[in-house]
Amino acid sequence: MPTAPAVVRTPSSLRLALKRLRARRATIALVPTMGALHEGHLALLRQAKRRASRIVVSIFVNPTQFAPHEDFGSYPRTWKADLAKLADAKVDLVWHPDVRTMYPQDFATRILTEGPATAGLEDRFRPHFFGGVTTVVGKLFIQCRPDIALFGQKDYQQLKVVTRMAADLDLGVKIIGIPIVRERDGLAMSSRNIYLSIEQRAVAPTLYRTMKKAAEQLRNGKDLEAVMADAAETIEDAGFSLDYFEARHAETLSPIHSIKDGPVRLLVAAKIGTTRLIDNIGV
Ligand code: PAF
Repeated sequence: MPTAPAVVRTPSSLRLALKRLRARRATIALVPTMGALHEGHLALLRQAKRRASRIVVSIFVNPTQFAPHEDFGSYPRTWKADLAKLADAKVDLVWHPDVRTMYPQDFATRILTEGPATAGLEDRFRPHFFGGVTTVVGKLFIQCRPDIALFGQKDYQQLKVVTRMAADLDLGVKIIGIPIVRERDGLAMSSRNIYLSIEQRAVAPTLYRTMKKAAEQLRNGKDLEAVMADAAETIEDAGFSLDYFEARHAETLSPIHSIKDGPVRLLVAAKIGTTRLIDNIGV
């Protein structure tokens, strides 16, 4: 049986463990997670292993990135299974603070970013989200001081926001985005997929299929507005309530009107029942 990685829960034990890891000029990769680990996370760990000599994974379900009506309370917490996966992946250290450790009673600091965080995508529907993400990820970077940090491209806007923040604050960490891992039928892997009923799960891959088709049509020179309207209709006809389906510049996230304004990324967020799914694809 693989050895379980060391787990630390306090800033002082984290500092000590990192000091040991950093001996002999090790390079450190941080993979920030909220647990409920799936194949998408394991892909991040594999890429981390290729790029750094030591891997630190944080597991912290961050309350400040959830609105009061969202799923903080029911977010899947699968500690034992997560730890077994991290042992298999030969992770060196798990940083697993509790809420009071990350946000002590009088905590009064927030990192707020503009640019990609105000692109009018996730921020339009989850206005509290990026403030919570940048505050916690900024804090994780300061605590762990990694050389690199890896994030999945499924949360595409998040990846751009964190990259901007790390550069703006000179945090000395290189952000690496890793391609989306999909189920066989195309559904992007997500910890929230377990919320889907059998019927909803059967419909869920429509998002990817529709985006894939739209991307292909755009590459073949079809009119952007017509392609996007058609695809939006397909998604809604399948039973989704659409938050957005947009074509954006892949780097700046600004709106584009033709694929000549590209590189282009199609981004979607839609609810099926009460479960909100996001996905994206390059054109
Ligand atoms: O993508 C996530 O799982 C979270 O938003 C992150 C980056 C771990 C911050 O809590």
